[in-house]
Amino acid sequence: MPDNNIFITGGAGFIGTRLAKALTQKNPGIRIWVLDNLHPQVHGPDAQAPRLGEHVTFLRGDVSNPEDIHRAMRAAQPAVVYHLAAETGTGQSYDEPARYSSVNVMGTAHLVEAVRQSGTVQRVVLSASRAVYGEGAYRDQRGNICVGLPREAADMADGRFDVPLPAGFLGPGSPAPSRAGMALAPASVYASTKLMQEYLLTQAGEGATWRATMLRFQNVYGDGQSLRNPYTGVLSIFAQQLIQGKELAIFEDGDIARDFVYVDDVVDALVRAGDKQLPHGTVLDIGMGKAVSILGVAKLLMKALGRSEDAYRITGAFRVGDIRHACADITAAGELLDWKPRVSVEEGIARLARWAQVQFKNP
Ligand SMILES: NC(=O)c1ccc[n+]([C@@H]2O[C@H](COP(=O)([O-])OP(=O)(O)OC[C@H]3O[C@@H](n4cnc5c(N)ncnc54)[C@H](O)[C@@H]3O)[C@@H](O)[C@H]2O)c1
Repeated sequence: MPDNNIFITGGAGFIGTRLAKALTQKNPGIRIWVLDNLHPQVHGPDAQAPRLGEHVTFLRGDVSNPEDIHRAMRAAQPAVVYHLAAETGTGQSYDEPARYSSVNVMGTAHLVEAVRQSGTVQRVVLSASRAVYGEGAYRDQRGNICVGLPREAADMADGRFDVPLPAGFLGPGSPAPSRAGMALAPASVYASTKLMQEYLLTQAGEGATWRATMLRFQNVYGDGQSLRNPYTGVLSIFAQQLIQGKELAIFEDGDIARDFVYVDDVVDALVRAGDKQLPHGTVLDIGMGKAVSILGVAKLLMKALGRSEDAYRITGAFRVGDIRHACADITAAGELLDWKPRVSVEEGIARLARWAQVQFKNP
């Protein structure tokens, strides 16, 4: 029955494999089609078709190739499409804007055309990113909310890492949770391509029979995240370095902060969004709703991996385009999806540590 048919792009990845599993557990009558090119940066050079379960048909293909998307859409005849396939490295996106645009932007454009032709699709759920907020929300000394400005490389080189505020706002500002509706300020090629994905789906779906929902994820982490990909997943990279006996190099002054949300909580939000007929173009923020400093999570990880808590060095180094502070306002996701995150950062890091230890014993 088409209502049970689901199509997931990028379904062999970190979030996608968990999503396929969760959907199958919830609905034993489900049929899922996954389109994934098994990107070597994520899956290694010789990746074979993954075993994703008896309800899942795996199709190897590329979202930037329209034929692959149309073939998958014809096979799946889905009621719900989850669009997860993407190039995901912020730093790498500066060096390869054409590839990032081709996969993230053109891939979404091809998907939109296939959705419009399908006649079966009712909902499209996009894995969007908080990167669209850039430095995100700040409260100034008078209590007014604004969006922080990009930081200058020269200031950071002098050890000044604070986020400047726009003219008319009294600094220094304190970080506040970011939410859909506030001004957008994508600060990297990756961020701009993720925003284009949102725009393409929203604009192409106006007046159509299908509806698109955008979930802007904060930093998703957990067991199963690629330990190969050097461009994503700071906690996976840290886990790997700690297990190898290395010392962590912590950027800036250690006070960069992120909203780390455990992968199963993100998957729960995706499943709920796929079930709900929300107004077309709804954008929801998905995170824990609180930020933790990079040094703070590094210390939790050191503890969970049995390393002494001084296995790090604050380097003062910085990367242009790295934002200082990220945190989601998850009120709307709570109200519209009846969703809330359940896995604390402490518990999530303990799970990640147990998994990473096994991976390195049996790579
Ligand atoms: N992990 C995070 O912290 C995070 C945060 C915000 C948004 N997101 C978004 O969530 C989505 C999934 O991220 P993830 O963490 O599971 O990443 P991932 O790299 O583990 O998974 C992405 C999957 O997409 C596939 N893929 C890449 N390019 C493709 C292409 N051209 N054609 C077909 N498949 C392709 C990869 O092989 C991989 O299996 C992405 O859209 C990402 O932008 C992730």
